[in-house]
Amino acid sequence: MVQHNENKKKMTVPDFKKFKQEGKKFAYVTAYDYSMAQCVNASDVEIILVGDSLGMTMLGYDGTVPVTMDDMVHHIKSVVKGAPETFIVGDMPFGSYQEGPQQAIHNAIRLLKETGCDCVKLEGGVEMADTIQAMTKMGIPVMGHIGLTPQTATTVGGFKMQGGTPETAKKLLEDARKLQEVGCFSMVLECVPKGVAKKISEELEIPVLGIGAGPWVDCQVIVLHDILDLAVSFKPKFVKRFAHIGPAIIEALNQFHAETLAGTFPDEATSFNKEVEIPKLY
Ligand code: KIV
Repeated sequence: MVQHNENKKKMTVPDFKKFKQEGKKFAYVTAYDYSMAQCVNASDVEIILVGDSLGMTMLGYDGTVPVTMDDMVHHIKSVVKGAPETFIVGDMPFGSYQEGPQQAIHNAIRLLKETGCDCVKLEGGVEMADTIQAMTKMGIPVMGHIGLTPQTATTVGGFKMQGGTPETAKKLLEDARKLQEVGCFSMVLECVPKGVAKKISEELEIPVLGIGAGPWVDCQVIVLHDILDLAVSFKPKFVKRFAHIGPAIIEALNQFHAETLAGTFPDEATSFNKEVEIPKLY
């Protein structure tokens, strides 16, 4: 059983701006199921993203595009159960908000009501402004996501750094300003040069949550499977392995297999040792 973190107090939406004003850093990881959510909840990490990256880490897809609203609801629910002291972000999958404000509001409300997550996240800059504004006006807490946006990564030639030229860096800054203006309470900034991320972070009153965006942002966000080395072969440049859980699982399984074959498991300690006299059947 994962222990409970007595000292943890769940962040609120207003805390995001407050932490920024106070210069207080915080951390953010993905989780997709009850057991991992329990682990994050027992740690000091403040935020969980139930990201549509679950398409790759949990469902075996090549990207995030096939992920559905039903997939998201199923996974977010289990995370909410496992992490009551952690702020939980529900990612809106591709196709659940691009049709416009009405569709986005409908699906965001579904995520909030059916899962109990604390806010929704969606991808896109200036082009998503009207939709986000309609959502925030309805009282839906929205976290933005700009820079590398995995749902549309194919249109920019794959999973690549963004904002690497003066023009594209300027466009990122415009996107960031716009998302703040239309009411996002924070935003993910993915795969951009650290100087560009610094400039954006300094300009904004809301926190910038960086992934592959260098150290000068308000919060670091990362995919849990990447930092745990858990069944992922590709290691992006910005990932550091903080543990090697995948290899540890394989080692444990091989040990179980070897002891099963050797007859050393189960032993006295792991067997019910009560002697029972079985009456004759005839
Ligand atoms: O789905 C996800 O895991 C994400 C992160 C890459 C920020 O959106």
